[in-house]
Amino acid sequence: MRPVIIAANWKMNTTPADAGELAATIAARTEEPGVVRVICPPFVCLAAVRDALAATNVFVGAQNVHHEAAGAYTGEISVTMLKGLATWVILGHSERRRDAAESDELIGQKLARAISAGLRPILCVGEVLAEREAGRAVEVVATQLRGALAGKDMEALLSGGFVIAYEPVWAIGTGRTASSDDAAAMAEAIRATLSADLHWGEAAEQVPVLYGGSVTKANIGEFLAEHSIDGGLVGGASLKPDEMAGMVASAAITAKARADAEGRA
Ligand code: PGA
Repeated sequence: MRPVIIAANWKMNTTPADAGELAATIAARTEEPGVVRVICPPFVCLAAVRDALAATNVFVGAQNVHHEAAGAYTGEISVTMLKGLATWVILGHSERRRDAAESDELIGQKLARAISAGLRPILCVGEVLAEREAGRAVEVVATQLRGALAGKDMEALLSGGFVIAYEPVWAIGTGRTASSDDAAAMAEAIRATLSADLHWGEAAEQVPVLYGGSVTKANIGEFLAEHSIDGGLVGGASLKPDEMAGMVASAAITAKARADAEGRA
């Protein structure tokens, strides 16, 4: 059974002075059984958030990491530096693909680096609007997956808890979401790509696929109702404790329903 995950991507918001309090508030308001919670603050807020969450089971994640182990990379952060600060990491977010020109190949290198360091990666994929309108969304996402994952160690990725987030770029921060049907179809297409193109076979079914893009407490239920979708990667709404409480409460209902169905099977 795949876990139900709600991951908060705080992006370039919060400061070391206020991040801990926000994380603690969110943790206290989202204590629901069965849901894996992750908060990904900016690098400089990781220590404050780690400290604030120390007595909880909320995980801390980074929003990026460098693909090399160390060296002359001004302004970059390595996996070694994250040790003790974060246990998860978001990779290949569309804002980094756009602003830092991250390629699928580079993202694949980051993925391998993260896995080797014991960081649990959330690999982000998704098409831009013109690609969806041209009917190319599945092809674009499949290309991203093949580019990042070809030649990677499937067993290491699976045992490292590898997660994929489908985030249509046109839905991020726009207030416009994918339909739950389209998101579910993409989650299935993602697993089909892993299974067939990347030769993961049935192991593809183990990979959690999250939906991201303007997720809120009001709409997350539609996505969670889809069997192929295992939670959300949330940006804007993840900075609001009330929104987080609502989203995690919905996720807890899904987690319980899945556990009950598993128990009956
Ligand atoms: P959003 O961002 O929820 O603000 O649309 C999602 C993301 O980029 O991960």
